[in-house]
Formats: sequence, structure tokens, C-alpha cells
Amino acid sequence: MTLDYNLQNKTAVITGGSGIICSVIAKEMAKKGVRVAVLGRQAEKAKAIADEIRSEGGTAISYGANVLEKESLLEARDFVRKEFGDVDILINGAGGNDTKATTGEDLSFFDIKAENLKKVFDLNVTGAILTTQVFGQMFTETGNGCVVNISSMAAYHPLTKTIAYSAAKAAVNNFTQWMAVHFNQNYSKKIRVNAIAPGFLLTSQNRFLMQHEDGSLTERGQSVLAKTPMGRFGEPEELVGAVLWLCSDAAAFVNGAVIPVDGGFSAYWGV
Ligand SMILES: NC(=O)c1ccc[n+]([C@@H]2O[C@H](COP(=O)([O-])OP(=O)(O)OC[C@H]3O[C@@H](n4cnc5c(N)ncnc54)[C@H](O)[C@@H]3O)[C@@H](O)[C@H]2O)c1
Repeated sequence: MTLDYNLQNKTAVITGGSGIICSVIAKEMAKKGVRVAVLGRQAEKAKAIADEIRSEGGTAISYGANVLEKESLLEARDFVRKEFGDVDILINGAGGNDTKATTGEDLSFFDIKAENLKKVFDLNVTGAILTTQVFGQMFTETGNGCVVNISSMAAYHPLTKTIAYSAAKAAVNNFTQWMAVHFNQNYSKKIRVNAIAPGFLLTSQNRFLMQHEDGSLTERGQSVLAKTPMGRFGEPEELVGAVLWLCSDAAAFVNGAVIPVDGGFSAYWGV
């Protein structure tokens, strides 16, 4: 039996597709021959990524969709189906943290508002669930499909300050396992649901925690690097290999797994 890494002519839907990590995933998937549907909360930003992919010879479409509004996702699904037909891959990339749900000098744990906690839970957890309802239903019709969720190191051990984000990403891991079992038990043994758990990258959502305005590391940034055996932050491009592998036949027996891509962060306790 030879299982290969080929993703040529597969169709992938990528939410958060105009974000830092998922725009890179979208572009790299397109280079491997994947037909990419870039979904973004802001249609223009998603379109810009799809335009870039097409200008480099790839196949891409875009659609403005809010992962917290099922109606909006259903519209996106109809559009993707009309343009590309069946979907093979769903990357649940929309997610992130919010400073209003992060403790710090200006915000104590006791003052965090429920609405801000809920926003972070909803974006990371409810958004992934609703999107999987909408596109996963297509998988049950074809009997095939692959979902990749984007978790975080915060899922394994809660990170200080990011109370809602840590809990939400733990729930993403839990959802990844739950969904894998649910698809297999109720719909098809061939549908797979996995996640990657990136380590620390410098992106818009965490830069304020890692770096001072002059670019020097905060105490937290220094702690992260001290606990990352590879001694550096990751780059979005370094997440792509794991995603391509998870989506390919080479990972045909990988299901309900969360793959750390973290420079060794999760392997090291600092001692
Ligand atoms: N940056 C990191 O270091 C890091 C580490 C671990 C995990 N992650 C996770 O990776 C994923 C991508 O993060 P990123 O760093 O590229 O952040 P990003 O902010 O660049 O991308 C997130 C994307 O989600 C979109 N989005 C937000 N709310 C939405 C909604 N309601 N509907 C649709 N789209 C919405 C945003 O518009 C944005 O394009 C997130 O789940 C994040 O939690 C990031």
C-alpha cells in the first residue's frame, strides 16, 4: 500500500483565510494544486488573497463569511459548491484572542466582562463548530472529507493572562476529538478531523504580549523563548507541512489528533 501526499485538484475551504497564518496555508495549498476557497470576515481582504493566488497561477475564489453566523456560512457553502463542486478539506482558521479578555496592568481578572469572555469562546469554539456543521454536512454526502482545526499551546497548559483563549483552545482540542468520533460513528469511516497546535509566532494577536514597541522582548516574550528548545518564534510557513500532511492520504489513519508544531515548547518544562 502506498499512501501519498498528493493534494492535486482537491478543494479546500479555509476560514480566516485572509489572516496571517491561514493566508499562508491558502497560498501554499494552492501551490500544491489545491483549489482554494478563501473565506474571510471581510470580503475584500479574502478577495485580495484569492487574487494573489490566481496571479501566481493557482485556483482560488473568495467569499465574505462570518463564522458566527450560520446563514452567512450557508451562503458561502452555496457559492463554493456552485464554483468548485464538492469540498474535500475544511481548515477552521478563524480564531484569536482579545485584549479585553486578557488580564494585565489595565485589566484585572475581576473586571473582565462576560461579553468579552464570550466573544473569545465564540470565535474559537462556536465558529469552528458552526463551520463544521455547514461544510461537514457536505462530507457526509460524499462520505469523504478532512477537517483541520487550529488549536494552540494554550490548549495543553493554560497560558497566564489569556484566560478565555486558553480555555477556548482546550475546547478546540476536545471538539477535534469529539467531531472525529461523531463523523466516524454516524456518517463515514473516511472522514477525519485533526488539529495543529502552533507554538509561538509573532502575529497581530500576540505581538502586544511578546514585544515592546521598540521590538525588544517583554518578560513574557523572553519566557516563551526560554521554554522553546529551538530558541526562536515560528513562522507561519512552518505550520504548512503539518497541514498538508494531515489533509493528504499519507495521514489516512490519523484521526482526532492534535499535532504540536511548536519548536519543542510542549516537550519542555524548563528544567
Ligand atoms: N499567531 C499565533 O502565534 C498563533 C498561535 C497558535 C494558534 N493560533 C491560531 O491560529 C489561527 C489564525 O491566527 P492568526 O495568528 O493568523 O490570526 P489573524 O488574526 O491574522 O487571523 C485570524 C482570522 O480570523 C478572522 N476572523 C475573526 N473573526 C471572524 C469571524 N467572526 N468570522 C470569520 N472570520 C473571522 C480574522 O478576520 C482573521 O483573518 C487562530 O485560530 C489563532 O488562534 C495563532
